[in-house]
Amino acid sequence: MVMTKPKVFIARKLSDEVVDKFKESLDITMWEDTDEPVDRDRLLEEAARCDGLVTMLTDQVDKELMAQGERLKIIANMAVGYDNVDVQTATEYGIQVTNTPDVLTETTADLTFALLMATARRLIEANEMIKEGNWKNWSPLFLAGSDVHHKTIGIVGMGRIGEAVARRAKGFGMDILYHNRSRKEEAEKELGASYYSFDALIETADYIVCLAPLSEDTKGIFNQEAFKKMKNSAIFINASRGPLVNENALYQALINGELKAAGLDVFEKEPIDEKHPLLKLDQVVCLPHIGSASVETRKAMMELSLKNVQHVLNGQQAKTPVN
Ligand code: DGY
Repeated sequence: MVMTKPKVFIARKLSDEVVDKFKESLDITMWEDTDEPVDRDRLLEEAARCDGLVTMLTDQVDKELMAQGERLKIIANMAVGYDNVDVQTATEYGIQVTNTPDVLTETTADLTFALLMATARRLIEANEMIKEGNWKNWSPLFLAGSDVHHKTIGIVGMGRIGEAVARRAKGFGMDILYHNRSRKEEAEKELGASYYSFDALIETADYIVCLAPLSEDTKGIFNQEAFKKMKNSAIFINASRGPLVNENALYQALINGELKAAGLDVFEKEPIDEKHPLLKLDQVVCLPHIGSASVETRKAMMELSLKNVQHVLNGQQAKTPVN
């Protein structure tokens, strides 16, 4: 008897060397375009046709999409965050949702700490100055930034990535404060991290690092009131999701001198409009959502997503279930 393989659609062009390993057990179709997100109409068609989907954070995985597919059993979102997926509706439809935790933790923590360092020590300004031929001299306060070592870091969202950032901060002799939905006693013991309320943390820290997931509770928590509570010398870093921050309030805080600088890997709208006023400020370092973007980690995320699909379509437990 010829067994038909389950049908799977991957909503972005992934590495063939990873995808090929799964072709023996899965009938895989992949979005052909390497750089653009899949067309919405095509994604809806594939949802109707397939048993499994691999989606990206750029895909809106909503009720309209899930209602297409009577055979759809798994949506593997290739990110640790899954705010683009309506998980409650997926559960109602009996669809398994998975994400890609763990494999990206250290890579995203590296980038978060690099962004903090680049913002504090003005690395991007310095680099642009040389390349634009503007390095004319040395002077005592030329491109002087802020120290990182032995300062206080306040991590909002002490999940896996928050803890990995805290380990890096410990190596820099920093005092570590954190705010989280629940206390992290292990991290307190291991890293000497102290639990603070949100307000106390933003009032105290020299570096405020946002790593909390986006939810109805966290949307817009970094607003005008929050930026006013921070020290004027504080530096704000966001490597989580843009909508936790009111960008207009952040811009006002920066131009009014209520906040020293900001390092942003994520934005309210992605890609951010090139005319956005935040992009005009020297004290803002911007990156295009590259937290987990190392080749090794992105391949590990691809592999984990496809393993989740394979497991679920084989009747096994998902490796990293969300619902
Ligand atoms: C995630 O996995 O949620 C990251 O934002 C992707 O880089």
